[in-house]
Amino acid sequence: MTDFVERKAYYAEAPVALIIGCGDLGMGCARALGQRHPLLIVDVDGDRLDRAVEMLRNEGHTVSGHKCDITDPQQTKALGAALSKGPGVRVLAHVAAVGPRIKDWRRMMAINLIGPHLVAQAAHPSMVRGAAAILVSSLGGYMCAPDQRRDAVLDEPLKPGFFDAMLEVLGGVEPTLPETYNYSKRALIRLAEKLAIAWGKDEVRVLSLSPGMLHTSMGRLDGALTPGRNEKVVQIPLGRQGTIVEAAAVLAFLASDAASFVNGIDVPVDGGHRAVNTANGRLYGGKQPG
Ligand SMILES: NC(=O)c1ccc[n+]([C@@H]2O[C@H](COP(=O)([O-])OP(=O)(O)OC[C@H]3O[C@@H](n4cnc5c(N)ncnc54)[C@H](O)[C@@H]3O)[C@@H](O)[C@H]2O)c1
Repeated sequence: MTDFVERKAYYAEAPVALIIGCGDLGMGCARALGQRHPLLIVDVDGDRLDRAVEMLRNEGHTVSGHKCDITDPQQTKALGAALSKGPGVRVLAHVAAVGPRIKDWRRMMAINLIGPHLVAQAAHPSMVRGAAAILVSSLGGYMCAPDQRRDAVLDEPLKPGFFDAMLEVLGGVEPTLPETYNYSKRALIRLAEKLAIAWGKDEVRVLSLSPGMLHTSMGRLDGALTPGRNEKVVQIPLGRQGTIVEAAAVLAFLASDAASFVNGIDVPVDGGHRAVNTANGRLYGGKQPG
């Protein structure tokens, strides 16, 4: 059968947008970034990855997939090796994370924090001048009280003995799953700041993006484990949850040259939820998150 498209679009061989995680928001980001860049999608779930690649290709995107468990240093090393043979990375959108459904705080910490560190190490050598890395954090990152000792441990999750050190700074008490989520997301915001400083000399920008309540599978399924989630929606100044399209559009803007001097900051995409929590004294370990 003759291919309908006989000539490759000029951008098909340009540096890729590397999307980590092809869940709901991951796919939204792929669709937004795929309008300007060829896509390389990474996920641990091979079937989901195959479906995502097929769907995006049928929609007209230039896309390939790479199966990888981002918590496994051997696998992220292999990802780095694959990237080094390609056209370079123009955008890194690190979206993959898990919520309380995972039921294991160590595994959650591994996926939400160790994974982004390993992926950053793997992708950095292939990032081209003008590239941008956007780490998807969460409004939850603003909910825990700052603690210098805990932050210092969370800043270096690849250090041997990380989990023991975590337990030590937490006084030997295992963190709850919501606490673990918030710690991992706070640490991700800090990681983006540190990488922005370290990678600036390569003209690579690094930012984090913190969604509030989004209407996604994760929001619905993990949110169902958070008491009073529905009541919290009415506290959002805009009176509703955000959509995948709204969060992905901001990520694509931050990744684009239109944001070429925006670097090392966190950008909340939360309909004003953070502002309300600030006004009510709920941020940084104040009253229970609203
Ligand atoms: N939905 C909300 O209300 C909300 C609010 C704040 C922040 N966020 C953040 O937005 C992002 C949500 O992304 P989503 O909607 O695409 O989530 P999702 O749950 O739909 O998808 C997550 C993807 O990550 C993949 N993944 C899990 N473990 C992995 C591993 N070890 N290696 C590689 N891939 C792995 C999964 O297979 C899945 O495809 C997360 O970072 C989340 O913390 C969401």
